[in-house]
Amino acid sequence: MIDIAKEAAREAGKVLLQHLGNVRHIEIKDGQELNLVTEADKESEQRIIEIIAARYPDHSFLAEEGGTVQRASDYRWIIDPLDGTTNYAHGLPLFSVSIGLEYRGELVAGVVYNPVSSEMFTAETGGGAFLNGNRIVVSSTAELSRSLLVTGFPYNVKDNPDHMVERFQAFLMNARGIRRLGSAALDCAFVACGRFDGFWEVWLNPWDLAAGAVLVREAGGRTSDFEGNPHRLDVPQWVASNGLIHDQMLEILKHAAQ
Ligand code: IPD
Ligand code: CA
Ligand code: CA
Repeated sequence: MIDIAKEAAREAGKVLLQHLGNVRHIEIKDGQELNLVTEADKESEQRIIEIIAARYPDHSFLAEEGGTVQRASDYRWIIDPLDGTTNYAHGLPLFSVSIGLEYRGELVAGVVYNPVSSEMFTAETGGGAFLNGNRIVVSSTAELSRSLLVTGFPYNVKDNPDHMVERFQAFLMNARGIRRLGSAALDCAFVACGRFDGFWEVWLNPWDLAAGAVLVREAGGRTSDFEGNPHRLDVPQWVASNGLIHDQMLEILKHAAQ
């Protein structure tokens, strides 16, 4: 199944590269000014579902751009056909394709693909995490003050949901640096391969994290909500780290919100 996911991600990546810098229709989604969708998001999703459904016609799908199909299957594919649409719409070549797989409600595999750098991140529960076939592990940084973190801002950022501004400020004062790439799936993949030490965000959707969560865990990292409970796709708080700085991150999240 992971081979099919890789093939679908590669094909979707081709679609995205074809439209890059040449987007014709940028629409606003769900009445949210900052939530964009382009023809590339939709075409990429169609391509992914076409490839997976041809092989596994009985499986269910949860897909961001309307391709959700619920069937009586133990398997469900969770798809973000273009993670980083705002970057993409501005011609910024920093985005990814994310495909996660659930078996009986548990995440069992994930693929995150960056078509610009041809980096394919893959993981299967219990089987480790890989970048282009080579094993990856999280970083060994043990202190928050020496950590490079990443975060993102939700589409309702202007409402400052869940004290996100205060929390951002607290991390800014306590970490070595913070980046905001604009693709949550890549953020996860970069924690998994040690480029980032930690990643937190609020109000992400299941398709942003399904694959990335498997990558981080299989690379030896930890994923949780802001209280430290194991991460669940239906909880809108996300912390991922190399494990070593996780409790320090939870402390910051807790105190900044008081
Ligand atoms: C977005 C990206 C971004 C995150 C947003 C997501 P999209 O996904 O993952 O990094 O900060 O919250 O919605 O809309 O580009 O698929
Ligand atoms: Ca996304
Ligand atoms: Ca998307």
